[in-house]
Amino acid sequence: MASREQFSSKFGFIMAAAGSAIGLGNIWGFPTQTATNGGAAFVVIYFLMAFALAYPALMAELIIGRHSKSNILTALRGIAPNKATRILGTGVGTYGVIIASLILSFYGIVAGWMLCYLAESVTSLIGWQAASEWLVSFGFERNIISMGLFMLMTMSIIASGISGGIEKWSTRLMPMLMVILVGLIIYVMTQDGAAEGLRVYLLPDFSQLKPSLFVDAMGQAFFSLSLGVGTMLVYGSYLSNKESLPRLGVMVTLVDSGTAFVAGLLIIPAIYVAKQYGANIFTDDGQLIAGPNLIFQVLPTLFESMGSIGMLVALAFFVLMSIASLTSSISMLEVPVSLAVEETSLSRNKATLIIGTLIFGCSTVILLNFDSLFDFVINLTTVYSQPLLGLMLCVFAGWIWHRNNLLQELKAGHPEIEGTFFWKVWPNYVKFVCPLLVLITLAQSVAG
Ligand code: TRP
Repeated sequence: MASREQFSSKFGFIMAAAGSAIGLGNIWGFPTQTATNGGAAFVVIYFLMAFALAYPALMAELIIGRHSKSNILTALRGIAPNKATRILGTGVGTYGVIIASLILSFYGIVAGWMLCYLAESVTSLIGWQAASEWLVSFGFERNIISMGLFMLMTMSIIASGISGGIEKWSTRLMPMLMVILVGLIIYVMTQDGAAEGLRVYLLPDFSQLKPSLFVDAMGQAFFSLSLGVGTMLVYGSYLSNKESLPRLGVMVTLVDSGTAFVAGLLIIPAIYVAKQYGANIFTDDGQLIAGPNLIFQVLPTLFESMGSIGMLVALAFFVLMSIASLTSSISMLEVPVSLAVEETSLSRNKATLIIGTLIFGCSTVILLNFDSLFDFVINLTTVYSQPLLGLMLCVFAGWIWHRNNLLQELKAGHPEIEGTFFWKVWPNYVKFVCPLLVLITLAQSVAG
């Protein structure tokens, strides 16, 4: 067998994993959840969930992945010691691959919208009215074309492999994303109304603390760190044995939650600047507008009222959203593609083409039945399946796999691991605490 591809450097892995983690979930999901859930009170709970629950689960994926050097299905089957657990591994692995593909099928639609608004900022700059209108009006044709275009971009990166595709594009795009994000924040901060937004974002309102916040924060943390479906597992499988997994995991968690926090410094003040310009930022029942209307109505109102500089700001903003989406979507597509490449005789190119086309088909079905399927698929995959799969991965790492194997894998790249706090706490933590926390939270969301 040809030697398996790897990330060429630690930096490459961190950019790729951060690229996967940092997406619409950070730039759109996190800020709006925070603003509607009591400001900084939610930020505190979120950081708690990210480090106390998502980080240990991330570690389970990275360790299993690097040990198995394979996709999620082959990995879980491989570490199972007997027939029953092998069957379980096959079931969980298959479910994970299906959910990863379904997540991509709705994510691709939303990312397509970002491309449309990006294109619109150019067409309105050159005064091409008809194209601008088409790009910003919701319609099947527009949706399927932009989704298809985005899928093609995703597929072409994945077809180019790990170091030549995922790593190369992540290391190019992620620094750009950071520069645009910081640039936009600096600009928005100079505008009237930004201070009010900052207050809403940063002053904790603990009176809004309620149990459902924990559910929301957990869901958000799992989604943001791309957990459960084997994304981080397969990225871990491309890591060299020289690297210390616990340290890389901390880096990725920090960069992800840090970026979510920083994105809030852009989005929430921008909403209040838009209010100054006359945009309506509240729904009828007094909540801050948080859904698609925020990105596709409130912020565009702001950009328009800023005059010609607004077109540049819009351009920068939708480039930011598109980059964030692309470095995430490639990590979703890698899950089924890695399985196909490793378990069949298909080449990477063919596997990418076939699977990409299938997911394009799923997205098309969602678009054709938008009202009944769009929210349903999002809830099915992110609210229920992801935490459930995350739980199963903790069960594999904590109960099914031998503790000695865990230790051996961790020792590679971190020889003194046995004496560390991490080794003293983590094995029992993934075994008992993580599954229990996920179960409690899941029970809450089913009951709610
Ligand atoms: N984490 C990304 C975001 O915040 C989305 C994402 C990428 C993802 N890969 C994933 C979500 C795998 C779930 C599973 O937008």
